[in-house]
Amino acid sequence: MAVSVHAPPRRDHERARGTRIRAWPENRPIDATYHLGFLATEIAVRCLFSQHISAADMGEVVAGMETLMDWVGRVGLGPMGTRAAGLPTPLNRRFRRSLRSLHGIVGRSIDGRHGCAQPVDDLLEVLLAARDTATGLLPGDQQVRDEVLACMMAGADATTHTLAWALYLLGRHPDVLTRLRQETDTALGDRAATVDDLPKLPHTGQILAETLRLYPPGYLLSRRTKTEICTGGYTLPAGVTVAYSPWAQHRDPKLFPDPLAFTPDRWAGRHLSTSARDVYLPFGTFERARQRGPVRPDANVGGQQASPTRPAAT
Ligand code: HEM
Repeated sequence: MAVSVHAPPRRDHERARGTRIRAWPENRPIDATYHLGFLATEIAVRCLFSQHISAADMGEVVAGMETLMDWVGRVGLGPMGTRAAGLPTPLNRRFRRSLRSLHGIVGRSIDGRHGCAQPVDDLLEVLLAARDTATGLLPGDQQVRDEVLACMMAGADATTHTLAWALYLLGRHPDVLTRLRQETDTALGDRAATVDDLPKLPHTGQILAETLRLYPPGYLLSRRTKTEICTGGYTLPAGVTVAYSPWAQHRDPKLFPDPLAFTPDRWAGRHLSTSARDVYLPFGTFERARQRGPVRPDANVGGQQASPTRPAAT
């Protein structure tokens, strides 16, 4: 991979992305998950290490991410768990090849950064400079590489599926699409949005919030109990894994009237109750959510969201 010290101007990336999207065929089906996966991975890669990454490497990153996610779903979270990882199956072999290739690409980027005199404004720079709060030590390259890969996987996958579901819902609700177009035309014209534009795009935000309500990419999350807790008539001992489903919570008719309807306006003003906002957890909750990912600041939920796994002793 060619690592240049100066990142190509942002507008070049935007132009390249615009050209690719305009190349999507009109009025014919496209594999939205594939195309959006490419787009989301590319954006995640640019945020993580803003330097140039060749088209060939980018293709390898996208394909590698797809293999890694496939492996996590079918092997890592499969019935035998990681015990099946050592078997010489085609998926395990593809997984190892992809991991080697991703390690190579990210590793070369880290090496390039060590030789770079000027500070760069991206996440890799932040990770390389992050000192352990207890020891004051800088992280090793391998740790940084693993964090970068975790961010690439977590960031690109969730974003891809959110955007794919948003397109699906917009395709079925042309009235919402028309409003979206009007809003973006007024706020942006034909330029790409920046963070500063977000206040001018309230309807766009509501469409994404409603997409994440109906189709949260993290539809089943888990936590381990630190202490014994009693909730909903059940006692959960310390140290057990508790699963909860944002997907199910988001469809509770008591909190979200007409829960299966795609209604971005429900996010306007104060339509939703505080309880509804409390169970809305597309980005998860607790410590992780506070540390990582784009989190709603008002996401706040107590133990009552946990799915009890065993009845209280009577
Ligand atoms: C629509 C966008 C996104 C959604 C819906 C989403 C959702 C989530 C959820 C549900 C979790 C699990 C949290 C939990 O267990 O409580 C998570 C974890 C995480 N997310 Fe996101 N996320 C998004 C975008 C991103 C982006 C853009 C990044 C990074 C650039 C990112 C990085 C992470 C990381 C590093 C984790 C922790 C992974 C781990 O420890 O295994 N996410 N995200």
